Amino acid sequence: MIFKNLQQQPPDKILALMTAFKEDPRDQKLDLGVGVYKDPTGITPIMRSIKLAEKKWWEIESSKSYVGLAGDPAFSDAIISLVLGNSIPRNLIASAATPGGTGAVRQGFELFKVANPGVRVFVSDPTWPNHISILQYLNIPFETYRYFDNETRGVDFDSMVSDLSRAKAGDVILLHGCCHNPTGANLDKQQWKIIVNLLNKNGATPMIDLAYQGFGDGLEEDVYATRLIAESVPETVIASSCSKNFGIYRERAGLLMLVSQDSSKRNINQSMLAYLNRQNYSFPPDHGSRLVSIVLNDKDLRSDWMSELEDIRNSLLNLRVQLSNELQKISGSDRFSFIASHRGMFSRLGATPSQVEKMRTEFGIYMVSDSRFNVAGLNNETVPALAKAIVETGV
Ligand code: LMR
Repeated sequence: MIFKNLQQQPPDKILALMTAFKEDPRDQKLDLGVGVYKDPTGITPIMRSIKLAEKKWWEIESSKSYVGLAGDPAFSDAIISLVLGNSIPRNLIASAATPGGTGAVRQGFELFKVANPGVRVFVSDPTWPNHISILQYLNIPFETYRYFDNETRGVDFDSMVSDLSRAKAGDVILLHGCCHNPTGANLDKQQWKIIVNLLNKNGATPMIDLAYQGFGDGLEEDVYATRLIAESVPETVIASSCSKNFGIYRERAGLLMLVSQDSSKRNINQSMLAYLNRQNYSFPPDHGSRLVSIVLNDKDLRSDWMSELEDIRNSLLNLRVQLSNELQKISGSDRFSFIASHRGMFSRLGATPSQVEKMRTEFGIYMVSDSRFNVAGLNNETVPALAKAIVETGV
């Protein structure tokens, strides 16, 4: 009886909301939970460029045989360019395709453990809950650093710097490259420069989780911090996801990149990434990453994809401004203006768990219990309903 000692696991908080929402019989319900983009009609569409790439690939794909342990090199090259531009010589970057951004995060964590069994990973308080869950599963000690100021709903930068100064060489500092999940509050350029100085001082290794490139201030703007860090410190780890910016969530396409100081270290890192993939699942999935490289390497598809992504980004920004204005109007105060200055798919509202619960039971509005809501779950008609619920629950 091998399974007799297994314990029931609590459901993932974010994913459990998806089920609860589906089971709610009310017509007037609003899903602001899981981080998937939805158009104004509530659909998560397949991007035009992806559909065309799929057609193109269907016509020319001639084999389903294995590709390589690190995935298709064309995918790696395309994502390295998208994320790092020309900021780093290619012979310093090791990379491997992974099943989605979560796969890249997981492989990165495993690599830390192999590299330094005494590693500690510093994560922002709060961070994406699955960061913590995976660290716990892998038995990797972690520490939190203060990040979000509950009063201003911005970054508590002084506390962040003070907590991160405890990290030392052999530790890892996990940073969100843009569009911080779950808060929506981000560092400015000056603050990123201070983080770079701090990393150079304490020798900790930065790991950048980049799941929303193109959702914040633009494709290039959203990798400002990633490029700055990768150029300025000896080693950088980047976990990039294609789920959101290519809308290919279920295809699972991500890339783990390791930037090192010299090409012989890079070669060792490359062999480690292939080895780790082999131990965990052998070959990473190919279909999603193939579509991404087709889009990025075709002039027309790439420009169409960029305009689709820009439309998504602008729609999020418009919804932020609308909601912030509506809240200003009905609450008569500016206390919700942070919603317009946050970036990405999410904002943390700052509501208590019981206020979040009340929004769900009384108004049919679903958000994560820490009051993170998905801006993309809104549209012109539902913005006033959310604003009303926020004010009436006393947030
Ligand atoms: C989210 O934070 O909602 C997304 O990253 C989806 C997930 O896997 O949790």
